[in-house]
Amino acid sequence: MADTLKLIEKNIRPGVTTKELDLLAEDFIHSQGAKPAFKGYHGYPATACISIDEEVVHGIPGKRVLVEGQIVSVDLGAIVDGYYGDSAATFPVGEISDEKRKLLEVTKRSLEAALAKVKAGTKLGVISSTVQQVAEEAGYSVVRDLVGHGIGRAMHEDPQIPNFGSANEGPVLDKGMVLAIEPMVNVGDYKVLTKADGWTIVTADGSASAHFEHTVAVRETGGDILTLS
Ligand code: MF3
Ligand code: CO
Repeated sequence: MADTLKLIEKNIRPGVTTKELDLLAEDFIHSQGAKPAFKGYHGYPATACISIDEEVVHGIPGKRVLVEGQIVSVDLGAIVDGYYGDSAATFPVGEISDEKRKLLEVTKRSLEAALAKVKAGTKLGVISSTVQQVAEEAGYSVVRDLVGHGIGRAMHEDPQIPNFGSANEGPVLDKGMVLAIEPMVNVGDYKVLTKADGWTIVTADGSASAHFEHTVAVRETGGDILTLS
């Protein structure tokens, strides 16, 4: 997954269309002997979800051309030997504002802080509250209508993993569980809306939003991130 995201990152520049990026991802995933996981999922038409600025997640690749100053979330899923991987990152297009740069840094840090807490015996609420704390300390909000999830032989398995909540709630993590942790952080309010295409989720107040995601296996001694290559 990370190799595919790196390939996309290298090709992000003003003038490229989101569909061109999607096709690069699709070809690369196939070249690795894997299958795109999103294509056909509830009728989703593409390999990647590509979401720009106030788009939070599930943006559909198309003719839209990237413009300097935007931030672009790229979310990818792949299936290898029947097992799903799910990973996302948000990239700058050329030079971006200090606010957007900080948003990317904070959202990435919220994911890293949560991943560092993954370990058998830890409550799921610790993951959720860690993300929320990092985002809110920076003055941002976490999206509440969308959550991370268990993952394995299906893309979405139990448990749901909210990016907010209290540390002492939720099930205890057990070794062998695999989780997709995916903070979605808004500069403004946490409320989101679905656009008329039925897929694209945007912030209700039009503020910028970032998204980072890794798939991680729970081990006795910590988290084993499965989407690093
Ligand atoms: N990436 C989403 C998730 O993490 C799933 C996208 S499914 C799609 O749960 F159909 F919208 F692509
Ligand atoms: Co996911």
